Amino acid sequence: MANILYLIAAICFIFALKGLSSAQSAGSGNLCGIFGMALSCVAAYLTVDSFDAVFIFSALIIGGIIGIFIAKTVSMTDLPQMIAGFHSLVGLAAVLIAFSVYFAPELFEITHPGGICASSLIEMGLGSAIGAVTFTGSVIAFLKLHGSYKSRAIPLVVNASLAVGAIAFLTYFVVTESEIAFILLTLLSFVFGVTLIIPIGGADMPVIVSMLNSYSGWAASGIGFTLHNDLLIITGALVGSSGAILSYIMCKGMNRSLKEVIFASGQGGISQETKSAELRPFKKGAPEDAAFILKNANSVIIIPGYGMATSQAQHALKEMGDILKKEGIQVRYAVHPVAGRMPGHMNVLLAEANVPYEDVFELDEINRDFVSCDVAYVVGANDVTNPAAKKDPSSIIYGMPILEVEKAKVVLFLKRSMGSGYAGVDNELFYAANTMMLFGDAKKTTESIIKSL
Ligand code: TAP
Repeated sequence: MANILYLIAAICFIFALKGLSSAQSAGSGNLCGIFGMALSCVAAYLTVDSFDAVFIFSALIIGGIIGIFIAKTVSMTDLPQMIAGFHSLVGLAAVLIAFSVYFAPELFEITHPGGICASSLIEMGLGSAIGAVTFTGSVIAFLKLHGSYKSRAIPLVVNASLAVGAIAFLTYFVVTESEIAFILLTLLSFVFGVTLIIPIGGADMPVIVSMLNSYSGWAASGIGFTLHNDLLIITGALVGSSGAILSYIMCKGMNRSLKEVIFASGQGGISQETKSAELRPFKKGAPEDAAFILKNANSVIIIPGYGMATSQAQHALKEMGDILKKEGIQVRYAVHPVAGRMPGHMNVLLAEANVPYEDVFELDEINRDFVSCDVAYVVGANDVTNPAAKKDPSSIIYGMPILEVEKAKVVLFLKRSMGSGYAGVDNELFYAANTMMLFGDAKKTTESIIKSL
């Protein structure tokens, strides 16, 4: 019975992932995942002869309440940190389970007359090491995304030595079953997680969060082998492979390889320091000017970015778009794959404001249309429009595909200052002849434009 429930739960998780891959089906995908998780809890209880119901149900209730509280209170802009925080717990769980199994192997039927089976030692060692890297790496990612920790260069040789040390301890542990080697392997992996993530910054952070997601999946899968739990193996593999695929897709979106993300930053290639804004002339406009320009346009492309999320301007944007559409103006939305601070960030916000899916276009679909567009309305986006990504090989965002807003007849930039975006790079578009800067909170500016319209 438990195995059948596990199988159904695994299928639910696959459908959950499928559902979560598009905004339309994300709700049903999520429900499918919740159902699968409930089934797997029931199945887990069926597999044990007796358990401390008070302890288990208290943990479930406390965990559930914390989960609901976090889900209700977390703001959209804090979601990436929250995801990194959750990954860290998966990593820590893998370490704790590996240690429990090591100290009580007979409970898990992994012993033979000479000690613990070699295959279980490998699974335990790998599960604990990957879990430890995931734990500390995710904590650092959390702090960096929260803005409380800045990137620092770590010489490649440090990470290479830690990796070699971890492999040596793992080998020694598998051969000798040594407790000291197991503890040292785990401690070294905790340090490795920190030194691996510290140097990574700027535009590469999303890839790292997704990579840590993948690690947490592989750690769970490794532990699944030790616990002889098929569902944990399947679920871990699903998380591990989907995280790896997402990392690959994001790397492709930024025109970088995973190797570059991890190693180039290890040499201090990435820095989030902002170059001082140059004192060059630029055009500054008022909402009334923008309203006039928009009203006289035939086609408008709205480019949302992180600033739209912080100012929660999506509803005002939708209202403005509707007014323009009524005037017979074509209004479309262009979404960059890494706009905002998490994959799909902009799509979620636009969907929340009921922007029709057919009006939202991805980079490849819309980039060629900027040439024929009258107004590019850039709402709190910066890096994803920065031409330095195409023109300046010394820029840290060089090679990242961008939305080519500079090709539009007029570019309206809504932001609060001449400051840079996440990657800390000045944007020469602010000084272009066809650009008008509209300073202020994006929501307030858009609302003023709506009034003028
Ligand atoms: P950014 O380049 O970060 O630019 C956002 C801009 O919004 C800032 O320049 C800021 O300028 C402006 N802003 C902030 N609050 C505002 C407000 N209330 N009203 C108006 N403007 C406001 O954003 P982007 O173009 O979306 O690019 C995303 C960046 O984040 C990329 O570098 C990407 O690699 C990185 N990143 C992405 C993810 C994912 S997966 N999407 C995750 C982590 C990091 P002012 O301060 O002058 O207002």
